[in-house]
Amino acid sequence: MAASPGSGTPASIWTIIVAAGSGQRFGGLKQFSELGGRRMVDWAVETAAGVSSGVVVVVPADQANDPSFSVPPGATTIVAGGTTRSESVRCGLAAVPGDVEFVCVHDAARPFATAALFEAVVRAAGASGVDAAIPGIAVADTVKVVDNQGRVVSTPDRATLRAVQTPQAFRATVLRAAHASAPEATDDAAVVEAHGGYVVVVEGETDNRKITGPDDLVWAEGRCVR
Ligand code: CTP
Ligand code: MG
Repeated sequence: MAASPGSGTPASIWTIIVAAGSGQRFGGLKQFSELGGRRMVDWAVETAAGVSSGVVVVVPADQANDPSFSVPPGATTIVAGGTTRSESVRCGLAAVPGDVEFVCVHDAARPFATAALFEAVVRAAGASGVDAAIPGIAVADTVKVVDNQGRVVSTPDRATLRAVQTPQAFRATVLRAAHASAPEATDDAAVVEAHGGYVVVVEGETDNRKITGPDDLVWAEGRCVR
């Protein structure tokens, strides 16, 4: 666990696992697909529980309201999510106690993030002047910016680009303030950036791949037996 700057005591860390998507590209609720003998969501919750004081798991309302829903081992609280990922994060944030110092937000669709990665982002987010830290990996392909006609607008210098992942760690006060106006973005770092926050990137993990389509689950099953 990260130490609170200057206090010498362990910082309080809670994690929100967002698992309330509908899996349009996958073709179903991928977060509950079987992976290595348990549900995909169970992987992320177990890892988060090992490094957090509390874990809020955000699931679709059908599961949140189902008394027979099997709570992922390590979860502190289950809440219903929203229509978008950003809304689901806000549903989770509402269940995090007010005095928590750092909040990690992590996708249930990334089963293989390690405890070391959670610790690395929290440590980096706790550095002086930093508001948030996120994992990123160098981009292998050249990336083009295109317009809606498919015409190339520009080619950013690849050395300046990172493909970013979760878990993303935030000073809780900053994350709450950035989400207060109900913004929409594909990750929480973008919400904090738009709010003027100082976000740093730490080295991500190649196995921390997001399960997006069916091929990704085939890869993940292979990863389980390695
Ligand atoms: N998520 C969520 N609430 C939403 C949308 C997404 O909690 N309303 C979660 C997903 O469950 C997933 C993570 O955010 O763990 C990343 O989203 P993504 O990979 O896009 O999953 P889905 O939104 O379910 O998939 P798709 O975009 O293909 O519909
Ligand atoms: Mg989505």
